[in-house]
Amino acid sequence: MSPYSFLLHLHSGLRYIVLLLVLVAIIRAWAGWLGKQPFSESNRKINLFALISVHTQLIVGLVLYFLSPFVQFNAETMKTHDTRYWTVEHLTGMLIAIILITIGYSKSKRASTPEAKHKTVAIFFTIALAIVVVIILASGRGLAGGAAS
Ligand code: HEM
Ligand code: HEM
Repeated sequence: MSPYSFLLHLHSGLRYIVLLLVLVAIIRAWAGWLGKQPFSESNRKINLFALISVHTQLIVGLVLYFLSPFVQFNAETMKTHDTRYWTVEHLTGMLIAIILITIGYSKSKRASTPEAKHKTVAIFFTIALAIVVVIILASGRGLAGGAAS
């Protein structure tokens, strides 16, 4: 298996871990915020695991970026859906989502009340997840599909 194929499968499979962890963190944050619950150790952990999953996806994606045949820099790049999507759109959209999750995690960590901790994660992670889903769908490979599956 080539490094490209290995990393594509890894990155493709990691998406489900990212989607699951971020979704669970969101549900628990909204429940904690609206239900006025304390900010527990398990809240802290699920938020941390969600953060680590997207940072791992960032590293794998960055390496993949230099290996993918769909990442091209020529006159045709922006005219063709696949090369434009993989060279520009996927990277930009996912980067914004990862930055929102990192800011949300970090602001929540520094917030002083349980309500503020839950609220920050609820809002930042929800916007980030929406972006991740929209960007995956824009690939044309489907939410659960892909070249590697
Ligand atoms: C290009 C690669 C990466 C960049 C640019 C990056 C960026 C960041 C930034 C800016 C923070 C600060 C958040 C804060 O203000 O507290 C952070 C925290 C963190 N990142 Fe990454 N990261 C990368 C890769 C990784 C990888 C590969 C992992 C683990 C597999 C990881 C795990 C973490 C953890 C555990 C934290 C801190 C959690 C805490 O403060 O409690 N990151 N990262
Ligand atoms: C939340 C973060 C991310 C998620 C959920 C995600 C998800 C995906 C998915 C589902 C695929 C398609 C896999 C397949 O066809 O089997 C993919 C491919 C890819 N991603 Fe990401 N990605 C993320 C972040 C990134 C980042 C930050 C970069 C670049 C810096 C990146 C670069 C790539 C590249 C180059 C491909 C391969 C396209 C190909 O050659 O077929 N990804 N990603």
